[in-house]
Amino acid sequence: MTVCSAPGKVYLFGEHAVVYGEPAIPCAIEQRASVSVEPREDDHVRVTAEDLSLDGFTVEYAGDGEERPDVDVPANLVEAAMGYIDHAVEQARDAADAPDAGFDITVESEIPLGAGLGSSAAVVVAGIDAATRALGVELDRREIADRAYQAEYEVQDGEASRADTFCSAMGGAVRVEGDDCEPIDAPNLPFVVGFDGGAGDTGKLVAGVRELREEYDFAADTVETIGDVVREGEELLADAEPGSEPSPELLAELGELMDFDHGLLSALGVSARSLDSMVWGAREAGAHGAKLTGAGGGGCIVALDPADATETALSYTRECEEAFRAELATEGVRVEEA
Ligand code: MEV
Repeated sequence: MTVCSAPGKVYLFGEHAVVYGEPAIPCAIEQRASVSVEPREDDHVRVTAEDLSLDGFTVEYAGDGEERPDVDVPANLVEAAMGYIDHAVEQARDAADAPDAGFDITVESEIPLGAGLGSSAAVVVAGIDAATRALGVELDRREIADRAYQAEYEVQDGEASRADTFCSAMGGAVRVEGDDCEPIDAPNLPFVVGFDGGAGDTGKLVAGVRELREEYDFAADTVETIGDVVREGEELLADAEPGSEPSPELLAELGELMDFDHGLLSALGVSARSLDSMVWGAREAGAHGAKLTGAGGGGCIVALDPADATETALSYTRECEEAFRAELATEGVRVEEA
């Protein structure tokens, strides 16, 4: 049995705009997805998902991935979760030059599915690492990130950036601009997450921004302005001591940029009443800044607050199902059991 885990992420800045070549800064967080893999004698793949915001399900299918038995959970959720796992399996078979390899796979995730915390990227990254290792092949993190991106790209019909998968593979804070992906230094940012219990449809939300951008020059300008916000934020991070406790001044400046970013994302139509309500709940509690994270439409917001006030306020906000502190995860994908 080979077990690997990979972290989820929050976007400090730059989601959506990153799809069009603007820079983004996602940060890995200590909420992880863990994938266990055991090679099989045949070419079947059997997947047990314990905790993908589903009730849990088991699916077994032949190597071509075409046959699916009935399972007792909504088909669209199973399809979404299985799409990522199918493509992770394909990438692992390709990397290990083992096209007929079969696996028993168990996915356990602390990251809610489709909520903006990078659950699919974490599952794909951990899955590729575990499955290739189970076949005796060790990939470096960049290759895992690259293969995980190919998998996401396939599932999301070509509408994916490298941000989520690179961040999950590498850990820490990263900067992604097109194909250019690098880890960057960051202080110990005090992230607080609010989760509305729902999920957005990444594909639809990305397509919506694309349409707006094609229809209106000012929407295209809005996307570019998000890039400007990211560049401004990058400079602030570059001046901070890596791993240090950030000063209140730095948090105030970063927070202001997060607020700005949220406004621009709202203008692009990817916020939601629940997300806005959590963002305002956080700001009114004294957070330095707050914004939606990920594709939007529902799911999570991220705020900056070293004190407890934001988490407490969010836990009393009607639209917030769960509020928690998210520590920056310095480690990306890792082996839990060889
Ligand atoms: C989704 O987590 C982030 C988006 O920018 C899409 C992507 O980068 O692939 C909306």
